[in-house]
Amino acid sequence: MSEHSINRIAVMTSGGDSPGLNAAIRAVVRAAIHHGLEVYGIRQAYLGLMNGDIQRMDSRDVAGIIQQGGTILQTARLPEFKEDSYQRKAIRRLNEHGIDALVVIGGDGSLSGALALHKKGVRVIGIPGSIDNDIWGTASSIGVDTALNTILESIDRLRDTASSHERVFLVEVMGRRCGYLALTAGVITGAEVVLVPEKELKMEELGAAVEEAYMRGKSHAMVIVAEGANLKTEDIAQYLVQHDIGFEVRTTILGHVQRGGRPTAFDRQLATRMGVAAVETLIKGESGVMVALEGTSIVTRELEEIIGKQRPINPQLIELANMLAH
Ligand code: ADP
Ligand code: F6P
Repeated sequence: MSEHSINRIAVMTSGGDSPGLNAAIRAVVRAAIHHGLEVYGIRQAYLGLMNGDIQRMDSRDVAGIIQQGGTILQTARLPEFKEDSYQRKAIRRLNEHGIDALVVIGGDGSLSGALALHKKGVRVIGIPGSIDNDIWGTASSIGVDTALNTILESIDRLRDTASSHERVFLVEVMGRRCGYLALTAGVITGAEVVLVPEKELKMEELGAAVEEAYMRGKSHAMVIVAEGANLKTEDIAQYLVQHDIGFEVRTTILGHVQRGGRPTAFDRQLATRMGVAAVETLIKGESGVMVALEGTSIVTRELEEIIGKQRPINPQLIELANMLAH
């Protein structure tokens, strides 16, 4: 790998996909070409890198993709990439293709892989892409806003039917160990109860809140459950049925529908700005950093500083959700 100037870069999307990844790929490819670099796309993340699934990309390869969900480069998980021997083989592949620097678009795990390569001398820039909004050091990751809008629309629809039938709906949302999606969705849909991994709730407290909503004369109740919360959706449903809290009980697990779809205006803009910033950061000679959103600016953060931490949720938002639920 050359020590100074960069001629050839590669880009990959890794980990769980999120809406806006294509907009980011497009921005990386076009910004690189604009600055006179050659660009290669690595299919299926670290797995593709190991297998040498690496192809030259030009401007036309990224035409008409800015509005598409998913990722044209596909993604994959390769748990073995934590191992030294895999990382060494990856570097060998990059050298075989004459690649001077790598842009990794993905979540916390993917960025850990990027940091590992950086520590072994590869020039790497990370771009945060994940619906979970759990990546430390950035106000938002690519895909969060779109996922939130999908959740919002789903809950609005569920509320219509919940209200017609006087039901309590348990709506399980993604986020892994992070409650951002659940909490934000709870606040902006006016849910009666929100369960997040960051704040444990007792089953009895939850039951009492739903029962209270019934007794106050509400026509329905919405309980948003983050998938990583201490209480599991199935157990909550069972508890509410057994304790006859007034409402009929129904459960909806939103699942992977949250990961697909056309990126919102916000995500397209974020992905585009981050993609360009990643290339320009590489050209400036930086490595081992992630581009991040701070306020309205795109900044860089050391990967070392980010990895192993989780973006905290705003405790004031929990209070706000509780205050407005009555
Ligand atoms: P995300 O990037 O969305 O958090 P994962 O946690 O599944 O998704 O990580 C995606 C991939 O990144 C893994 O399959 C693996 O190839 C790589 N990876 C994850 N953690 C590490 C690590 N500690 N060191 C090196 N590579 C890692
Ligand atoms: O990290 C994104 C995410 O969608 C999480 O919210 C969820 O826990 C996980 O990925 C699901 O992973 P998979 O697509 O492998 O089922």
